[in-house]
Amino acid sequence: MAKNQILTQSAEETMALAKRLARHLKGGAIICLYGDLGCGKTTFVKGMASGLKINPTKVNSPTFVLMNIYEGKSPLYHFDFYRLETVDEIGAIGYDEFLYGDGISVIEWAERFGSLLPKEYLSVKFSHKGEGKRLLRFQAKGGKYKELLIKATQSQINKCCFVSM
Ligand SMILES: Nc1ncnc2c1ncn2[C@@H]1O[C@H](COP(=O)(O)OP(=O)(O)O)[C@@H](O)[C@H]1O
Ligand SMILES: [Mg+2]
Repeated sequence: MAKNQILTQSAEETMALAKRLARHLKGGAIICLYGDLGCGKTTFVKGMASGLKINPTKVNSPTFVLMNIYEGKSPLYHFDFYRLETVDEIGAIGYDEFLYGDGISVIEWAERFGSLLPKEYLSVKFSHKGEGKRLLRFQAKGGKYKELLIKATQSQINKCCFVSM
């Protein structure tokens, strides 16, 4: 198994992993999530929320809005671009004040950022690997996120899961 890949065997493992990762995040962090419907992106956001002392049951995919804000140890800005039709809609919500502010941003369907994709972020790509199993591939874009991945690996954020980073 290549480096920076983690296989989770249940939704709970995905949440536990995201919770551990969230504890390493600093204000201004951007996490981009990719993968088909049902592959665990929102589950991952719930885990991040709980790592930031936000009740994970508050987290669900925003249906009519592109972003939800949850107040916690750091504010968590949860974007979901599933229903996005044009990139202009992202501009219209003043996304940059959030994304480039002091909170932590997590974006589902981040491929729909188009030309507004930030330069630096942590990418997490999800894929189905059978009943209850999901492969999460982490990739750092930019030095700050490379450091984050190294720190996260050293502190064994994956210790809930079977495959090592
Ligand atoms: N290993 C796993 N990681 C994450 N979710 C899982 C896993 N195994 C099963 N699931 C289930 O898959 C579904 C993922 O849904 P969700 O997180 O809303 O996906 P997405 O936001 O990518 O559309 C949930 O019903 C969750 O319980
Ligand atoms: Mg979702």
